[in-house]
Amino acid sequence: MAKEKQVFFCKECGFETSKWTGQCPGCREWNTMVESPKIKGKGKKSYSGVITPETGKPSKITEVSIDTEDRFSTGIGELDRVLGGGVIKGALTLVGGDPGIGKSTLLLQMCRNMSENGLNILYVSGEESLKQIKMRADRIGKFNDRLFLLSETCLDVVEDTITGSDMPDFDVVVIDSIQTVYKEEVDSAPGSISQVRECTSAILRLAKQTGISVFIVGHVTKEGVVAGPRMLEHMVDTVLYFEGDNIASYRMLRAVKNRFGSTNELGVFEMKNTGLAEVLNPSEYMLQGKPENEAGSIVTCTLEGTRPIMLEVQALVCQTGFNYPRRTAVGIDFNRVTLLMAIIEKRMGIHMSDYDVYVNIAGGLKVNEPSLDLAIVAAVLSSYRAKALDDRTFIFGEAGLVGEVRAVGMAQRRINEAAKMGYTSCIIPKANEEMLEDKPIKCYGIKNIRELAELI
Ligand code: TYD
Ligand code: MG
Repeated sequence: MAKEKQVFFCKECGFETSKWTGQCPGCREWNTMVESPKIKGKGKKSYSGVITPETGKPSKITEVSIDTEDRFSTGIGELDRVLGGGVIKGALTLVGGDPGIGKSTLLLQMCRNMSENGLNILYVSGEESLKQIKMRADRIGKFNDRLFLLSETCLDVVEDTITGSDMPDFDVVVIDSIQTVYKEEVDSAPGSISQVRECTSAILRLAKQTGISVFIVGHVTKEGVVAGPRMLEHMVDTVLYFEGDNIASYRMLRAVKNRFGSTNELGVFEMKNTGLAEVLNPSEYMLQGKPENEAGSIVTCTLEGTRPIMLEVQALVCQTGFNYPRRTAVGIDFNRVTLLMAIIEKRMGIHMSDYDVYVNIAGGLKVNEPSLDLAIVAAVLSSYRAKALDDRTFIFGEAGLVGEVRAVGMAQRRINEAAKMGYTSCIIPKANEEMLEDKPIKCYGIKNIRELAELI
């Protein structure tokens, strides 16, 4: 019999080696290498990545059939959209986000809707008592008998519960959160890298063997990554991030990894007294409270996946009191703003170095799409000249370093969305204008940002 291979890994960064070292070759930390815990019992190998291990023989791709019934709805449209059209049987989904953002609420609402659809659900919480969960549930609505709650941190108990004969066959299991559960055979604290790793791999095995779809909640560290190394993200099928600032009530749900769909769909929610409500028209939501006829406020249209969202870009330009002008960017890349300031200075001949510039995406959405360039330039120009743009006009387009205006993708979609929102004209790249099939509103195509200066 072959000798069992020893594996060591770093508690900090997850780096793996076959030899023990005092210093981790990956992150250079000392005394962090530990031996990977052996899993008791025969055949309980770590999960290798195959959904249903079949015969071991290769199959012709044309003969592989896909069951469309393998996908089912979460009962929350926005969540289905982000998942790529619903949950896949046996899929492992990680939901990450800052504390208090609403992960538990979202998943409890999902459990409620799914149990209404006739599925059997187990909601495991390692963070809250049954009473606390019930209190939250009472705010959300009425629940039925198909949803079971378990307040438990030992994953072995959870596994026994799921496979236990006195329980129904669960279709969906939620584990809130991966950092609070532990496996007995691993002798480090819950939340440590080795625990997170072993627990995730045990959950993954369970999901793939039983076909239960599992959702796990993962806390996010200060740096904005799910606590525990990237390895957690590699192991699961889908990674969703729930974000938004704590002051505003809306929340965005994004997929950063999705084995079963695209990763650029966005789900928008609003936190209410009765839980999370779906925001079906994000454009309307984002433009709420937009000032009318104010200098420095420009409407643009960005794309989140395939979804156009209208936004307001605000700029404030004022004379600087220092030698060194200030630049502030909220909701967009700071370097992009600095670059656009240089373009304005050089290509439009405006001395931006005498002015402080503040740029903000109203509503708190974070965007990094170059199509916002023209709107930012227009907002800065509008604030600089103290002149407002017509209220029913919106702008999009990318600005190049020599001042040229470059085409952006899916212009038609953006224009249709704006038309739906009641906009009557737009300033867009010339190249986009020429390719439009349908012009529901008046379009001004421009080739150079100097033309923008004339239009405002
Ligand atoms: P929660 O789901 O506990 O966040 P997470 O699991 O991500 O840590 O959400 C907690 C916040 O949501 C809390 O500050 C209260 C608020 N909330 C509401 O505003 N309305 C509600 O109906 C619920 C259930 C929570
Ligand atoms: Mg929670």
